[in-house]
Amino acid sequence: AVRPVLPPDIRARKGGAPLVVLTAYSTPMARIVDAHCDVALVGDSVGMVIHGLPSTLGVTMEMMILHGRAVVRGCQKAMPVIDMPFGSYEESPQQAFRNASRLMAETGAPAVKLEGGQHMAETIAFLTARGVPVMAHVGLTPQAVNTLGGYKVVGRAEEAAKVMADAEAVQAAGAFAVVLEKVPEGLAARITQALTIPTIGIGAGVRCDGQVLVVDDMLGLFTDFRPKFVKRYAELGRDADAAIAAYAAEVRDRSFPAPEHGFPDEVPAKAGAVK
Ligand code: KIV
Ligand code: NA
Repeated sequence: AVRPVLPPDIRARKGGAPLVVLTAYSTPMARIVDAHCDVALVGDSVGMVIHGLPSTLGVTMEMMILHGRAVVRGCQKAMPVIDMPFGSYEESPQQAFRNASRLMAETGAPAVKLEGGQHMAETIAFLTARGVPVMAHVGLTPQAVNTLGGYKVVGRAEEAAKVMADAEAVQAAGAFAVVLEKVPEGLAARITQALTIPTIGIGAGVRCDGQVLVVDDMLGLFTDFRPKFVKRYAELGRDADAAIAAYAAEVRDRSFPAPEHGFPDEVPAKAGAVK
C-alpha cells in the first residue's frame, strides 16, 4: 500500500502551515507522534538516547533497520524517515544507494535522511534519480563532530555563505526538505526565504518552515545534557524515577503485589452465572 503522506506532499508544504517533526524509535512512541506530527524521524540520535553511545558515530545499519521497522509499524498518517548512519553513505553514491535502498526495503519507510551539503550533492542526486527521496541535513551535522570540534553553532560570520551554499546545493540535487541544525537565526531565515523546499529547524530560530526535536529530549527522558534549543514539555524521566522508587519500596515492604494482583487456585464462579 502507498503511504498517505509521501515526500512530494512534504515538499508542497513550503510556506504553508509549519511542518511538525519529532523523532521516534519505538512503536508505542511512533503511535503518539503519528497522531500529532507530519513526520516521524527515526534519528540516529537513537544511539545516544536509547543505546547509551557517546555520539552517533557508533550507530549501525542494523540498529536503524530494527528501530525503523518498529516506527513504521506505529505510523498510519505521519511519514517515517530513516537516518542513514555514519559510514553507510559517504564513500560513494553507489554505497549510499545500496544502503538507502536496504533501509527503505527492510523498514517500509518512503524516505531517508543524510548529513552534508555541497560534498553530498552528487550522492543526493544519484539517490533521488533512483527512487530514494532524501531529506538533507546541514549546519551542525553531528556525525562530523570530530571534524567540527564539538556541537557548536555552525554558520556565523564567514561560515554563513558556506551553509547557504550547502542548503542551495542539496535543494538543487533534489532533496525534498532540509534540516537546519544549530544555525544562527538570521541565516536560517535567509536560507528559508531563498529555498523552494521546506526548511526544518532545530536550534535554527523562529522562521523555518518546520521544527524537529528529539522526542526523548522534549519529554525529559534523556537528561545527560540539554542544548539551549530543547524545550521540555514533560518530565517523564523524573516521573519514571519516582514510579520506580515507589515500586522498589513496595516490593521491599511487601505491599506489592497485593491480593488483587494474584490468581486464585480455584476458578471463581462468575457473578450471576447459572451453577
Ligand atoms: O538524529 C536525529 O534525531 C536528528 C534530528 C535532531 C534532526 O538528526
Ligand atoms: Na541524525
